[in-house]
Amino acid sequence: MPTTYEIKVADGTLGILIPGMGAVATTFIAGVLAVRKGLARPIGSLTQMGTIRLGKRTEKRVPMIKDFVPLAGLEQLEFAGWDIFPDSAYEAAVKARVLERGLLDALKDELEAVRPMKAVFERRYVKRLDGPHRKQGKSWMDLADQLREDIRTFRQTRKLDRLVMVWCGSTEIYIEPGPVHQDLKSFEKGLVINDSAISPSMIYAYAALQEGVPYANGAPNLTVDIPALQELAKKKKVPIAGKDLKTGQTLMKTILAPGLKARMLGLRGWFSSNILGNRDGEVLDDPDSFKSKEVSKLGVLDYILQPDLYPDLYKDFYHKVRIHYYPPRGDDKEGWDNIDIFGWLGYPMQIKVDFLCRDSILAAPLVLDIALFLDLAARAGMSGIQEWLSFYFKSPMVAPGLYPEHDLFIQLKKLKNTLRHLKGEELITHLGLEYYDE
Ligand SMILES: NC(=O)c1ccc[n+]([C@@H]2O[C@H](COP(=O)([O-])OP(=O)(O)OC[C@H]3O[C@@H](n4cnc5c(N)ncnc54)[C@H](O)[C@@H]3O)[C@@H](O)[C@H]2O)c1
Repeated sequence: MPTTYEIKVADGTLGILIPGMGAVATTFIAGVLAVRKGLARPIGSLTQMGTIRLGKRTEKRVPMIKDFVPLAGLEQLEFAGWDIFPDSAYEAAVKARVLERGLLDALKDELEAVRPMKAVFERRYVKRLDGPHRKQGKSWMDLADQLREDIRTFRQTRKLDRLVMVWCGSTEIYIEPGPVHQDLKSFEKGLVINDSAISPSMIYAYAALQEGVPYANGAPNLTVDIPALQELAKKKKVPIAGKDLKTGQTLMKTILAPGLKARMLGLRGWFSSNILGNRDGEVLDDPDSFKSKEVSKLGVLDYILQPDLYPDLYKDFYHKVRIHYYPPRGDDKEGWDNIDIFGWLGYPMQIKVDFLCRDSILAAPLVLDIALFLDLAARAGMSGIQEWLSFYFKSPMVAPGLYPEHDLFIQLKKLKNTLRHLKGEELITHLGLEYYDE
């Protein structure tokens, strides 16, 4: 298949802009610095560790993904961010207590140099949080202009060639798209008159897109999942992706559920509960922020199991998700799943999963991959929603009228086939009959 993509080379420097310099962001930045220094390996990152098969199995062509498509190298990355607390990335990482102090101290100078810029924040959207390091402005539009100025300054002072933005800020309260979100004109008017349906994360996204910077949403916030900002992304020819990083319990769910369905095993109920004690857990203790997370977490089973197609197996299964804030655990989340399934002749069985995970350790490599792939998409001239990055998200954004694909393995196939497509390589269908034909 001939390629239609002219992918620009990944020369020069790539700036990664991060609203929200908390546990995930600092674990990501410190991780990249540690890998650069040879102190650790980038485990969990498909762009750094993954391979891709090309052509027939007999050809034995299996390059590393990073050698197959032109991606920015870790040594080409520069970081900047915003937060409502003025702590440097070093101080924030120490407070987050994800990485060992010894490792952080080995990276201290570089981490201390990453100091957050003043944030755009509105307490109504994150009720359990408040901080002093905030911008003042007469309107949302004024604040968007200040963010745009921050982006330009970062680009100029660090002489950056390209930028991407990945939201790693707290989860905002649940909102549904309203009139102000329907088109760019209404949205921009809303920015001028401080429409209360515009959240801070949308202001960051607006600023990024206006500056031609690709935007990814690591949280379940509505943000770019609205027609107005998708219109802007298309107008500015900028790729966007989201939403809500797929880690921990939902990752397990999208691994297990496709397996149950593949074997036509039925499901009566799936009860998921979590305890975690980091700041994210504290924010999610607020019912309105939890609602954003709950909607994002609940969708996956319905889409994977397709109860409409398999009513005997999946009609009316009971699905509940709970998150409990429990400070002693810090970032070390424990996610329990009780899964009631049934098999041959309807006989019941149970599966118990107890995942003692580390939230930010699972999330950090995803931030890296998303940033590198969004930059690739931009250089390949792709714009708007990047559905091929669904692999990374709990609640993948899709074109209007499409249902999202949640099955992790279909998502991975889609991602790798997109890379093959970009490079003009044959897509892999796994048919394999040719190996048996004379
Ligand atoms: N860790 C995971 O596995 C995971 C998975 C999926 C999604 N997420 C999401 O990623 C986000 C970050 O998680 P975390 O564990 O790092 O949380 P965190 O609380 O440690 O960090 C979030 C940071 O965002 C800052 N912030 C909040 N509103 C802001 C704003 N308007 N502008 C700038 N900064 C702002 C907070 O002050 C805080 O420092 C959360 O929304 C979380 O739900 C995390």
